[in-house]
Amino acid sequence: MKLPKIKILDEKHKILRQKSQDVTFPVSEEDRKLAEDTIKYLEMSQDEEIAKKYNLRAGMGMAFVQLGKLKRIFVIANERDDHTFEEYVIINPKIISRSEELIYVGEGEGCLSVNRPVEGIVPRSARVTVSYYDYEGNKKTIRVREDLAVAFQHEIDHLDGILFTDKIDPKDPYKNANKMREI
Ligand code: NI
Repeated sequence: MKLPKIKILDEKHKILRQKSQDVTFPVSEEDRKLAEDTIKYLEMSQDEEIAKKYNLRAGMGMAFVQLGKLKRIFVIANERDDHTFEEYVIINPKIISRSEELIYVGEGEGCLSVNRPVEGIVPRSARVTVSYYDYEGNKKTIRVREDLAVAFQHEIDHLDGILFTDKIDPKDPYKNANKMREI
């Protein structure tokens, strides 16, 4: 399998701080190809051997803004126990409800645009319901939980120019950990 050529921007690029714009339908062939290439890239990045060969950091999600396109699209490739992947292409998402319960990733969140160690935890809703559109412009709704809920919230933040590092208090990076559930 050939590694798709995508260029991931580092956080020093100011575009990552801009708000992405709603996508119009039907989605262009170019954007569909970019979404599919990015999913394949993420899947390959989660394979230890391939990651080593190409010197990739493992990632499960990517927003288009990280590829230099200010469009409200993100993709996620979530590995199942049997090593196949759940694939998501999420367009113009909106969080329509969230659980009261908060969680955080104990080992910290990561981002393919943040190429430095970051200490601290990010509060996230344990469950979110998100409305979005598919390539053809059909409206859908999905309820996600746990690590997938964290990924959705992380990627939706990207669409508003927000990085996970913004949500960590540098003076108290583990603030409120005792009020949340670790995953
Ligand atoms: Ni990210």
